[in-house]
This record gives sequence, C-alpha cells and structure tokens, in this order.
Amino acid sequence: MPNLFISLSKTQIVKSDDVIALLDLLRGYKKIAVVTGKNHFKVSSHYERVYNVLSSLGGEFVIVSEVEPNPTLENIDFCYDILRSFKPEILVGIGGGSVMDATKAIALKLANDGIDVWDCVEGNVIPERALPTVMVPTTSGTGSEVNRYSVITNKVKVQKRALRSQAIYPKYALLIPSMTSDMNKHLTAITAIDALSHAVESLVSKNSNPISESLSEKAIRLILSNIFVAYNNGGDLISRENLQFASTLGGLAIDITGVGLMHAIEHPITARFPHISHGQGLAILFRKVVEHSFMFNVEKYKKVADAFGIKVRGNNDMVVMHTLIDAIDYLVTYLGLNKKLSDFGVEKSDLKHIAEDAVTYMGRSIASSPYSPSKDSIEKILREVF
Ligand SMILES: [Fe+2]
Repeated sequence: MPNLFISLSKTQIVKSDDVIALLDLLRGYKKIAVVTGKNHFKVSSHYERVYNVLSSLGGEFVIVSEVEPNPTLENIDFCYDILRSFKPEILVGIGGGSVMDATKAIALKLANDGIDVWDCVEGNVIPERALPTVMVPTTSGTGSEVNRYSVITNKVKVQKRALRSQAIYPKYALLIPSMTSDMNKHLTAITAIDALSHAVESLVSKNSNPISESLSEKAIRLILSNIFVAYNNGGDLISRENLQFASTLGGLAIDITGVGLMHAIEHPITARFPHISHGQGLAILFRKVVEHSFMFNVEKYKKVADAFGIKVRGNNDMVVMHTLIDAIDYLVTYLGLNKKLSDFGVEKSDLKHIAEDAVTYMGRSIASSPYSPSKDSIEKILREVF
C-alpha cells in the first residue's frame, strides 16, 4: 500500500432515535436559529417535538422556514437578512440537501459580515470561519451533513456549483432515522440515486484511497440491500436507518475524493432546468456514464460491480460491464426514474450549452473521473440520454 495522508471530516456524528438529542448538542447556546425548507418540515410530525426541545433550552430561538429547493444566492441572502439582526450563536439545519447546503452558506455569511458567497465558490476568497452548525437530515441522499460542500445556484451566471471550505464542516450531524420516514416514494428514490452516485463516483475517482473506497463499497451495498424495502414500505425504520447511514458514508467518501462525471454533467442540467431534481438528473445519466467510463478503469468498476452483488471473478470484462449496466437500468426503472432529458422540456439545442458549462465550471470533477471527456464527447453522452 502506498504512503497515505488522509484528512477525514471534522464533523462529529451523533446517532439518536429522537430529536431530544438536540438538547445535549445545543446546551449552553443562548441564541439558536433553526433553518428549514418552506413547507415540508413545518407540516411534519417532528416540528412540534423540535419546538418543544428548543423551548426547554431556555434561550432565544427563531425558526426560518424559507429555504427553496436548489438554493440560489438570492435565497441565501434572504435568509441571512432575516437572521443578521438576531445574531444567532449556532444554526440548526433541518431538511434535505438544499436546507443543509443553505445553512452552511448562511453560517458563513453570518460569521463574515455578509461575505459574498459566490466569491468563495469561485475561490477568490478563502473564508476561515463560519458559525457552528448542527445538521439534522430528513432525506438520505446528499451526505451534506458530514462534508465541506455547499451547492449553490447563481441565476445570473446560470451555474450550480459547490462551495468547498473547511470552515463549513458541520459541528454535528444528528442522524435520526425516523426523521427520514416521511419521505414519499419519489423522494426516497431520487435521494437514494444521489447517495448511490456519490458512492460510485468516489469509488472510481482518481482521488480515491483505501479508506474512501471502503466507505463507498459499504454505502453501495447498504443502498442496494435496503432501497427496495424503503421504497415499498416507507415506514420500515431498519431500511430507513441503513439508507441514512449509507448516505452519510457517501458524504464522507466524496469529502475525500470529490464527485465525478455524472455530477459534472448533472449540475449544468439542473442549473438551466431547475425543475429537474438532482437525483432525477443523475438517474438519466447513470447508465450511459458507466457505459462510457467502464473500460478506462476496469478494476475499479469491477469493485463497483462486486458491491452491486454481481459475480465478478471468472467473468470477462464485457460481461461484468453489461451486467452492471443492466442492474443500473433495473434499479432506475423500478424506482420510476427511467426518463430522458426531452421528457422535461430540454431542447436539442440546449445540449451544446450544457456540455460547454460542464467543461467551463465542472472541470475538477471531470478531471478526477476515470473517463475525462471533451466538450464534444459530453455532448455525445447528452444526445444519448436526450
Ligand atoms: Fe449529489
């Protein structure tokens, strides 16, 4: 094994059966801000329990339920403006990837006099601090609760990019499986595909190492052995717990390696067509990206296939590749995500712009993938899923 220097997430992971665990994590803070989405959490069965926990702490708290799906710079500024006069000491993000990513960006602005978040995305400013955050995920896809990424949409530049900063590692990730059991079938499906794509992309990444590979392999196995139960019986807490754990493992894995080619093409799609969900965009691309990439690192993709439960030893490479692609097809179809870009209003003339965007601002993710296609080759993949 080569010499290794591996930096792991700074986030402390807390697993609990109940939001009462927030009491220990927030004790001593006198001003707490909860950040959530516009609708989902407020009508969930957990809202009252969280409210009661916050009330029992004895300090001041506010709940800002304003985060939109695919948060924009404007949406983050709006939440920041609500909170800056309150001056919270800590933020609690309760929701899916959009809420957690927005919470990180708001924490950054609050600790740095309203800093321009996009300057940080572009690397012009390297922030050194952010307010501490506690993340309570209500979906099992993003892994944002344990990593240093915050994905933000810039509507003016029509770009969806990740802010990467050591400063925004959450202080705590509070994992409560029952908080994810309100997800409907579609949300369960698209978030599972997101988590699976993180694990697969990290496993085949040029930046991978034995620790990130172990995280990815375990995540893939957990997702494939639990997604069908969770999809068909959302109240099954064992499968919810396993999917939540898998999502967190995937979040840790991409914290080490970064994401890959699927995300590099998907971000430009949903930046231009935000009504397509992140997981749906990935599901559209999944099969074709694996098909084009497999032969560029057969050994890594055999590890992916093995984690999928596919017999690898004794089979030739092409058989393994086609079995893996068939398994991806089966999963995507079963979950109701077997769609094309044209199903969502994407026009053929859009494809060259999406490909152009991918090479313009997702170059890091393209370069770390086993297959690093040119703009024209990305457009070819897009035509195949059009
Ligand atoms: Fe993702």
